Amino acid sequence: MGKIKLIIFYILIIASLALNSCKNNDAVLSDLTPFNLRVEYKKNPVVDTQKPRLSWELISKERAQVQTAYEIVVASAPELLNDREADLWKSGKLQSNTTNQIEYAGAPLTSRTQCFWMVRSWDKNGNAGPWSEVSTWEMGLLSKSEWKAQWIGNDLTHLGKGKIYHLPPAPFYRKEAALKSNIKKARLYVTSLGLYEFQINGKKIGDDYFTPGWTDYDKRVYYQTYDITANLQEGENTFGAIVADGWYAGYLGYALLVKNPVVRNFYGDVPLLKAQIEIEYENGDKEIIASDETWKTNHGPILEADILNGETYNANLEFENWSEPGFNDSNWLASQVYDEKADRKIECYRGNPVQVFAELEPKTIIPREGGKYIFDLGQNFAGIVRLKVKGQKGDKITLKFGEALFPDGSLMTENLRMARATDTYILKGNPEGETWTPRFTYHGFQYVEVDGFLEEPKLNAITGLVLTSATPLVGKLETDSKMVNQLYHNIVWTQRANYLDVPTDCPQRDERLGWTGDAQAYILSATFNNDISAFFTKWMVDLNDAILENDAYPIYAPAPKVRSTDSYSPGWSEAGIICPYTIYKTYGDARMIEKFWPQMIDYLKFMEEKTNGNYIYKERSFEDLTPKGGYGDWLSVGAKTPPDLLASMYFAYCAQLMQEMALAIDKTADAAYFEDVFVKSKKAFDDYYTDGRGRIETNAASYGDGEGYVLEGQTAFNAHSQTSYANAIYMGLLNDENMAIAGQHLVDLILQDDGKLSTGFLGLKPLLPALSETGHSKVAYQLLLNEEYPSWGFEVANGANTIWERWNSYIKGVGFTNNAGMNSFNHYAFGAVNEWLFGNMAGIKVGEPGYRTFTIRPEIAEVGIDYVNASYHSINGEIGSSWKKEANRLILKVKIPVNTVAHIFIPSEENSPILIDDKPIEECVDVQVVGYENNYLRVELGSGEYRFQVLTNSGH
Ligand code: BGC
Repeated sequence: MGKIKLIIFYILIIASLALNSCKNNDAVLSDLTPFNLRVEYKKNPVVDTQKPRLSWELISKERAQVQTAYEIVVASAPELLNDREADLWKSGKLQSNTTNQIEYAGAPLTSRTQCFWMVRSWDKNGNAGPWSEVSTWEMGLLSKSEWKAQWIGNDLTHLGKGKIYHLPPAPFYRKEAALKSNIKKARLYVTSLGLYEFQINGKKIGDDYFTPGWTDYDKRVYYQTYDITANLQEGENTFGAIVADGWYAGYLGYALLVKNPVVRNFYGDVPLLKAQIEIEYENGDKEIIASDETWKTNHGPILEADILNGETYNANLEFENWSEPGFNDSNWLASQVYDEKADRKIECYRGNPVQVFAELEPKTIIPREGGKYIFDLGQNFAGIVRLKVKGQKGDKITLKFGEALFPDGSLMTENLRMARATDTYILKGNPEGETWTPRFTYHGFQYVEVDGFLEEPKLNAITGLVLTSATPLVGKLETDSKMVNQLYHNIVWTQRANYLDVPTDCPQRDERLGWTGDAQAYILSATFNNDISAFFTKWMVDLNDAILENDAYPIYAPAPKVRSTDSYSPGWSEAGIICPYTIYKTYGDARMIEKFWPQMIDYLKFMEEKTNGNYIYKERSFEDLTPKGGYGDWLSVGAKTPPDLLASMYFAYCAQLMQEMALAIDKTADAAYFEDVFVKSKKAFDDYYTDGRGRIETNAASYGDGEGYVLEGQTAFNAHSQTSYANAIYMGLLNDENMAIAGQHLVDLILQDDGKLSTGFLGLKPLLPALSETGHSKVAYQLLLNEEYPSWGFEVANGANTIWERWNSYIKGVGFTNNAGMNSFNHYAFGAVNEWLFGNMAGIKVGEPGYRTFTIRPEIAEVGIDYVNASYHSINGEIGSSWKKEANRLILKVKIPVNTVAHIFIPSEENSPILIDDKPIEECVDVQVVGYENNYLRVELGSGEYRFQVLTNSGH
């Protein structure tokens, strides 16, 4: 992640001013203006790809406005930036309506080059609009040989003590250097094996946490680039770093819980630092200060630092002003230099860094026995707290974290399992008070139990810092149902807590792994809340780095072996196909497909072989897995759907996605191959798993007593289940006639279950979409609005402010009803209903990749909801859809971004009067009416904001 900060900002302003004058000779005849310029999905980033992809959005007052051509100029200095001198790239006028995923096609780029760019567009009448503001990107270090810095470390393993947890202190590093005057530009390139915080002259550099991020450190590690020009001074400067075990050497997952032979040090024993400071002076001189054995090291106040287990800080051991010049480091040691692994890549960080999203003030303080206090932060989240305390030297404050309280008011920590999740602060006794925030740990919590205050604390003794990968917010959703609004809040907060460098299952217990099943089931839902393009650009690399020897994608990625039996699972592994497909559809990103195409093919070939030529999996095809058959419809509450049936459906579905992706990257032979696989597997599914008339069946007896399978309280598998039909419909595995029959079976099964859902992780995501698809929107709404167990409303009624792992994780007046070890209060899988909230309730669905075209086809609730207002900021601009039922009319408002086309489905009976912006639709010449389809009038519209009124007699 790179930071081009203030100085560049000013250069840009000056450049823009200069350019406006030198561009005046270009006639500007249109108001079509590019904005939100980004490179590789980010604003002003540092990248290390030779052909970074550029994007912009367009604004214009004109309705149905499009771009017919564009021109890009890129220069190595802002003053060169005009179409005559731009030294890196002058695209010339290109006839195209594309505004994103545009590959830079100028002069080859070298390390450290700063690129200044702008773009202009021509409108539908062929008139040019004004040039955009100037934006930038910078090239990172493109080859490993550019790294002069060495890996340095300080092996403190022997200082780890404790019976259960072996937690060594975090080493500090410092280096002083005298710099000359007139520094023009300075950059810090920094990474670590473990986590680092870097400081210069007493100040932390950047706002990021958990840098450099989690990767398979044997294969690659990322570096960050910071503009540190403003941090340096003439004369003495001090460069300092603190390094902790992090994901590299710390505890991971449930290794300790399952008594895995390895519980920490999954990638290495000693965390290491690599830092390179590059300075350029006004006179052209250059200087590099790089980590080596001359960096001094010591250990001090951070006695323990572990992601799962917490941080311990003894303020009495602080080195005052240690990262400032003049500190006496004569008793610090020389750093040890460690060898580089030849085949480990060092690359520019691709994701969104973890940062503080918000600060939360406690709502209440509850005094507990023994002088303890529980602070309630009012919201379950992932993060840390800042502690403010006054006391005597040596006083100890212990902080414990929990997501919930027992009915007697005590803190519930059972669901943390072996994650100690405890922070400790030992005071130095400053009479002014002291403030401390841990750096290298995080917890999933709403409540903090604090032990050690001598006096009754005030609310400001604790502040919650919400940590998350800084994925930009893109969605809004509001209705007149309090329950649905709370549900949406819960979904958003659960995503926030779990998109933390990798998409994790939960933020609290000893797990926090990038579970692939959860990731694939939820990804489409996630796209509506945040821009996850960069986040998944990073995680897809993690997932591909973790491919197993048999070519299968694993059950979590990165994939340290936290349990020897963990391997792959149908429904989980398909994240390797479904995630790139979703990123492609959402952002038009075909490069991701291209990059991982060979691995995707290998996976599907592996799965095809496993069908033994049948194109489906018969019962007991995955007995090699633990649990047998894989995780299947994990955490379903009713009939257990056989895992082999689910695997068969996933196989066919993925073949279909592969066909579409092959076409996106012009691999026609591959497309034909996967089309054939899809046709065969669809037929095989129909032949083997249905009665030919749309009823899904299996030979349940062949599973015997189900020993070794996930059956959760059930004694037998049952293919005639909500999950089976929901998936078969969603995945397009049935012909039209059987589709309707399957829809009816699904409704009947829901009725048999008292109108409740019974699906688990794999059945939930397609459930409401499948009901809508088969014309049962009414039943979908019933499930959405239900407040009895099991339902989203039940969680909300029981006080949830995040999505729970189980529907009844907590029941008011009853307490915790489940297996404490598997009872997370922050688990996004059941939040996958978001896909339906945006895609059906508000009706926003992607058409051509990147929402170049899309549909708005809202499903109007018969009861329970009268008003919905949603917006989604796509890569092509902001889409809006809102509807409101009034006494004798329905009002539908839509917003369509410039350069896109929307297919709007207006809910209306044939021939009901429809007004657009108060004018009868027949009189609106710019609206293309396509015709009536199943109680919707379909129209095609270009950009703009439109208000439709459908006049009804009885109300809708
Ligand atoms: C995780 C899940 C995951 C599952 C595998 C659980 O412990 O929390 O979300 O997908 O294991 O079935």
